[in-house]
Amino acid sequence: MFFLSRRHIKKITAVLEEIAKGNLQQRIHVYSKGTLGRLAQAIDGVLSGLTSQINVLNKEAIKGKAILTSMVEGVIAIDKDARILSLNPTAEKIFTIRKQDAEGRLFLEVIRNNDISEIISRVLKSGEPLSSELNLILPVQKVFRINASAIFEDSAVAGCVLVIHDITQMRRLERVRSDFVANVSHELKTPLTSIKGFVETLLEGAIDDKKNNREFLRVIQEHTNRLENLINDLLDLASLEERGIALNTQEVNVRELADKVLAGFEGQLKKKEIEVGNELSGNLIIKADKDKIEQVWINFIDNAVKFNRPKGGIKIYAEETADNKIKFTVKDTGFGIPVKDIPRIFERFYRVDKARSRSLGGTGLGLSIVKHIIELHKGSVGVESVEGLGSEFSFILPK
Ligand SMILES: Nc1ncnc2c1ncn2[C@@H]1O[C@H](COP(=O)(O)OP(=O)(O)OP(=O)(O)O)[C@@H](O)[C@H]1O
Ligand SMILES: [Mg+2]
Repeated sequence: MFFLSRRHIKKITAVLEEIAKGNLQQRIHVYSKGTLGRLAQAIDGVLSGLTSQINVLNKEAIKGKAILTSMVEGVIAIDKDARILSLNPTAEKIFTIRKQDAEGRLFLEVIRNNDISEIISRVLKSGEPLSSELNLILPVQKVFRINASAIFEDSAVAGCVLVIHDITQMRRLERVRSDFVANVSHELKTPLTSIKGFVETLLEGAIDDKKNNREFLRVIQEHTNRLENLINDLLDLASLEERGIALNTQEVNVRELADKVLAGFEGQLKKKEIEVGNELSGNLIIKADKDKIEQVWINFIDNAVKFNRPKGGIKIYAEETADNKIKFTVKDTGFGIPVKDIPRIFERFYRVDKARSRSLGGTGLGLSIVKHIIELHKGSVGVESVEGLGSEFSFILPK
């Protein structure tokens, strides 16, 4: 016969109460050989088994949480009633919502997007995974790929998981690449078509037309030069875009370099009666790749001349920035640039007025070459402009 003493009952109850509070390290430790001892050992054994299983589960949960937290994709878990069960920090960022405000509420109440809500309903209904690309304005337009798959419990749909991937940058790069190919093809084709046409006309007899044949050859020459310039610019861009391109860094007297470039524009400056003020100090020496900085001056000055009005002005100057860098500016009194075009002006082939730029011999590659060169020097480019009044193109270089 075996009786549990009041003391033993008290001890077992106290331990079980501690365990219920979550203190799993508690044990009964009754070392008697009888039934009581075996009971205590059995309970202690169950507790040890439970503790180690809970530890394993905790570790798994921590791992899972770490993965979800560090994911670049947004993840949202939804229950079968389309309520948000949980979401990771990326999803909070994408939709500018807070976990504590979202969990437990209906998806559509938190994220007012009918397209995503529709995806959720379809997955919950069919249990089939769905993938879709959506344009969302949050508040800027972004492109997302959303993969939704069902969660099953006892072979019934118990909810779904949304994985949201921001593919805006990827789509933008694809567009830039296809625009580039289209632009290059177009720019190559235009002069080629003219050259071909004039060669055919000459071959068909115009070669003997003493009055016009030289003019036809002159046009062919002009388009050939255009093609050559374009190909040179494209090769420049390709080499600048190559990673790890080496700069031939040396001490450069920027004023002398600008004067040399200006001398090359003398004919055009005179013809348009443009006045130039080179206010750069003759003592200003920077460490840079001389040939590349010369290319920057050529592009900035070429634009300041081309897009200037007759009897206009150009001023070139330098100033120190608040963060101890040097800012070089070419200021003109030309057409200026409309506000809407300013953010894209340094893109390849971007021109405010394609026809006007082309008639002035440009292909819209000059400024993108400048941007690449300055960024290779760890600097930055900028522009300020007022339409109808003029523009200030600048580049900033570290000292
Ligand atoms: N100083 C400026 N004043 C007004 N518009 C300018 C000026 N500089 C550039 N732009 C505008 O920016 C566009 C892009 O300039 P960019 O130098 O890249 O091309 P481009 O001069 O037309 O051709 P390229 O430089 O390849 O000969 C120009 O077509 C023009 O519309
Ligand atoms: Mg240019």
